[in-house]
Amino acid sequence: MSFRIGLIRGDGIGPEIVTEAKKVLDKIASVYGHQFTYQELLLGGACIDATGEPITKETIEGAKASDAVLMGSIGGDAATSPWYKLEPEKRPEAGLLGIRKALGLFANLRPAVLYPELAGACPLKEELTEGGFDMLIMRELTGGLYFGERHTGVENGLRTAVDTLTYNEEEIRRIAVKGFEIARKRRNHVTSVDKANVLDSSRLWRSVVEEVHKDYPDVELSHMLVDNCAMQLVRDPKQFDVILTENMFGDILSDEASMVTGSIGMLASASLNDTSFGLYEPSHGSAPDIAGQDKANPIATILSAAMLLRYSLNLQKEADAVEEAVQKVLTEGYRTGDIMSTGCTLVGTKEMGDIITERINL
Ligand code: IPM
Ligand code: MG
Repeated sequence: MSFRIGLIRGDGIGPEIVTEAKKVLDKIASVYGHQFTYQELLLGGACIDATGEPITKETIEGAKASDAVLMGSIGGDAATSPWYKLEPEKRPEAGLLGIRKALGLFANLRPAVLYPELAGACPLKEELTEGGFDMLIMRELTGGLYFGERHTGVENGLRTAVDTLTYNEEEIRRIAVKGFEIARKRRNHVTSVDKANVLDSSRLWRSVVEEVHKDYPDVELSHMLVDNCAMQLVRDPKQFDVILTENMFGDILSDEASMVTGSIGMLASASLNDTSFGLYEPSHGSAPDIAGQDKANPIATILSAAMLLRYSLNLQKEADAVEEAVQKVLTEGYRTGDIMSTGCTLVGTKEMGDIITERINL
């Protein structure tokens, strides 16, 4: 079959890791007889350098014309990069928020998995993680504080800043449906995370999630307050299957969950709307400190490409093949610096991409 894939190489280590993931996609195309055509799209810092804006009409139109978009990470070092001298709405992150909103990518899936081979990198005590864990954070991505009205000014003679957190029931319902649907394909458990003891938006969240749950009686639902969830993630990560939560809580909890796996360089993500289109990117940032040095771990981006095959192109066995190749390479002991441990073979970004590509065969 033929598919159109948009490529956003991004900033920092982005271009290096996207190159490796594209290699893997090309190998999948040749082994399974597909045709992938790529369109390069600009976003974030690279887009600012080329056009003065973090996102353009061409980026949005190019993404809309694609079956899916694969993205590296965007952004730079806020202390030193000239991008951060610009107004907030002209900075790289505004491009990322812009593409999420323009394409209606309201569902952000962030799996956090402890690979048995990498258990040594997990900062938690062994008895807490024995047997591994496998959770998925379903984060609402186009509402809440990120997109509410905001302003900064002077009130009563004091500098005052206001951000607003708004959700309507439809925004909550559609992400809850996604959460329950994915739980059915996993271990049938949703933990909905909110701050219903304080926030109105969380009380609405909780009641809409309960309404949606009536259509999924086979899925177990529990509610958890966000502060407790932050604690439970380090106390007993094995209890979680799907964590369903709003935008800001999901941003924070997904960083925590990835740290608990000990291998943020391994974690993929997908941002989906109501069509089969999706934007796929690693969960980690652009790591400008190691950019261009062949040190970055390309596995999160390669696993994001696997999610792209699975969710947007509906190529299940091809997605399995990529995930199995990654698993094989870990079992064989190849490691980039971030996941290195004694007795393993240290490889760079390019070599890691090459070895994974080689392991994909019929
Ligand atoms: C993420 C990032 C973004 C977010 C930033 C870069 C705007 O932290 O994807 O988690 O907060 O959503
Ligand atoms: Mg984040």
